[in-house]
Amino acid sequence: MKTVKSIAELRSVLKSFRDKGLTIGFVPTMGNLHQGHLSLVDAAKQHADIVIASIFINPMQFGVNEDIDNYPRTLEQDKAKLIAAGVEVLFTPTPEIIYPKGLDKQTFVEVPGLSGSYCGESRKGHFRGVTTIVCKLFNLVQPDIACFGLKDYQQVQMIQTMVEDLSMPIKIVPVATKREATGLAMSSRNSYLNDTEKQQATNLYQILQWVRLRLSESRDFEHIEMIARSKIDATGMRTDYIDICNAQTLEPASPEDTSLVVLAAAHCGKARLIDNIQID
Ligand code: PAF
Repeated sequence: MKTVKSIAELRSVLKSFRDKGLTIGFVPTMGNLHQGHLSLVDAAKQHADIVIASIFINPMQFGVNEDIDNYPRTLEQDKAKLIAAGVEVLFTPTPEIIYPKGLDKQTFVEVPGLSGSYCGESRKGHFRGVTTIVCKLFNLVQPDIACFGLKDYQQVQMIQTMVEDLSMPIKIVPVATKREATGLAMSSRNSYLNDTEKQQATNLYQILQWVRLRLSESRDFEHIEMIARSKIDATGMRTDYIDICNAQTLEPASPEDTSLVVLAAAHCGKARLIDNIQID
């Protein structure tokens, strides 16, 4: 695996692949890799000849109260995992390379509407940061396909919308959430949890499963959401939101919707966990 830091190096490596007619699959990450990220690499390998991963802890997607300095940095272990997974190129730019003029002067990309709801409501500016960095990385890598995990369901929808709205010639491949044996969705933020909190966190997926069961019997969405919220709070976690939505628009679900997603976020210890289930 070749690791490149500069944009010039990245472009020259990518050109050599493109000149050979090889297709490029891209897996953008913020590092601290786990099985969920490696399943994105596997998916990229199935859809493209060459896989490029990036590790960049994007300052633009962290809020003022979110501690970017304590975000786990595990570059050497991450590299070993990516090599074992068969990644050809790793791009590890610095913030100065990505935002040379500083964050305040950086042109941004924002998907209207969706960026202010659910995670966008609790994390102001977060999705602007995500779509801006993903757009920038797409321009640098120019992949044929790019893989994103469905644990971040809202993120996948926003990136898909950005790609459509800006006519980017990139196929977005959504990849199913990887879970621990307990059902807990794998996430870099799980490393903030101690053993007791990890046990507590497993309730989030169980409560989502409870919502699935209730939805097979009732369409009283508000009532189900209200009970689900109190169930999360009763576990000792603090509900941020649990909402039953239309799976495509992410608008609150209406009784005639056939494809739903239940989006949930809850605070557990120092971590803010998110998860979701899709229901057809
Ligand atoms: O999902 C993530 O890890 C990040 O939001 C992403 C897509 C790499 C952008 O920084």
